[in-house]
Amino acid sequence: MFGLRRLPRALARPSGVARAGGPGVRPLSNFHPLAQHVNTGDNTKETTFDFSPDNHLRAEHILGKYPANYKMSGIIPLLDLAQRQSGGWLPLAAMDKVAKYVGCAPMRVYEVATFYTMFNREQVGTYFIQLCGTTPCMVCGSEAIKKSIEDHLGIKEGETSKDGLFTLREVECLGACANAPMIQMNDDYYECLTPDSMVALLEACKKGEPHAMGRWGSLPMNGQVSCEGPAGKTSLASAPGPQPVRAEGFAGDVDPASVKAHMGY
Ligand code: FES
Repeated sequence: MFGLRRLPRALARPSGVARAGGPGVRPLSNFHPLAQHVNTGDNTKETTFDFSPDNHLRAEHILGKYPANYKMSGIIPLLDLAQRQSGGWLPLAAMDKVAKYVGCAPMRVYEVATFYTMFNREQVGTYFIQLCGTTPCMVCGSEAIKKSIEDHLGIKEGETSKDGLFTLREVECLGACANAPMIQMNDDYYECLTPDSMVALLEACKKGEPHAMGRWGSLPMNGQVSCEGPAGKTSLASAPGPQPVRAEGFAGDVDPASVKAHMGY
């Protein structure tokens, strides 16, 4: 989630200057986390943002977790909430709203939003693809995966498809190296990809039916279970004994679906 974002190839150009995109694609003009805000039609000082009634309650719940004098601790979860409400990105007005909620200067929120690459400050597609290009994924074929995405969608890395469905970004290690090559698409991990299974996934998304996730929010696309290799499970083959109950009463077997529901994902 907090994976490092690759520096854009066009870093040398002046900050805020849009890259030229091919016909029919929308380039991300400003996706380097250190770049400055640039007014666009849907993101100016006049743009407004407010939490929906449901998200207002969630925001209050989030803030309730922190002491009154540490409300700024809620900046990241509130930005995440605002980004989800906005369709995967953070307009200036959303960051300003979060600053009001926690009672700090907007600049403190901008600092967070520009530091953590999980926050997008420009619109992204319905399916936001973060392709891992770090060494383990690279030696296992991430370049071929990238090419299959680019060729199939007619976009380049850093661009959004004309239909607004897909944005492709190359990032650093996402922590699923055992099942390289892989992508993160929105909240979910698709692993053990081949160019063919990648294209199949894109086509499924176009129909609004991306492959259902496995139990742990990841899906090896070669049919294997979790991180088991071709020989199947070779260690920890017997069921573990009872889990020790933690002091706070947490038994240790949390269904990720319940966590997502709790977070409003
Ligand atoms: S190198 Fe790709 S997930 Fe770690």
